[in-house]
Amino acid sequence: MIHNKYNDWFAPIRSFLMASSAAILFLSSGLVQADLEEEEGAELAWKYHCITCHGEDGLADSTRYPNIGGQNQMYLVSRLKYFRDGKEAGNQMNAQAVLLSDEVIEKLATHFSKKSY
Ligand code: HEC
Repeated sequence: MIHNKYNDWFAPIRSFLMASSAAILFLSSGLVQADLEEEEGAELAWKYHCITCHGEDGLADSTRYPNIGGQNQMYLVSRLKYFRDGKEAGNQMNAQAVLLSDEVIEKLATHFSKKSY
């Protein structure tokens, strides 16, 4: 049989398979990325002791501390920068935030904003 585009019965199947494997690769790389982001956020929350007072999911362990899980990301960023830069006098948060870089603040804010309890 001559192999040309008119009798290549496999062509539509081949393009379907290629398109779907590309889609699967694309989707799974998104999932891996989300997992890494979650892992990094959790590590930072542990490393900087946020979870000691605000809990692993941002639900505070004690009523003395605010719940921050599921809070808007931008709000968390702005509060953390205010605390860090001393524009807002917290009771305990200034000492916590003083160590944080802009990048770490963004990551922590994203991490806690995605939590729900
Ligand atoms: C020693 C306990 C403690 C630790 C550790 C701690 N916080 Fe706090 N956090 C507080 C308290 C108490 C407040 C209320 C403001 C104040 O008194 O400083 C607060 C307030 C906040 C707020 C403002 C919440 C709002 O609703 O406005 C955010 C955001 C926050 N903390 C994030 C963090 C992050 C992120 C970390 C880790 C880098 C962290 N905190 C570590 C005790 C803590």
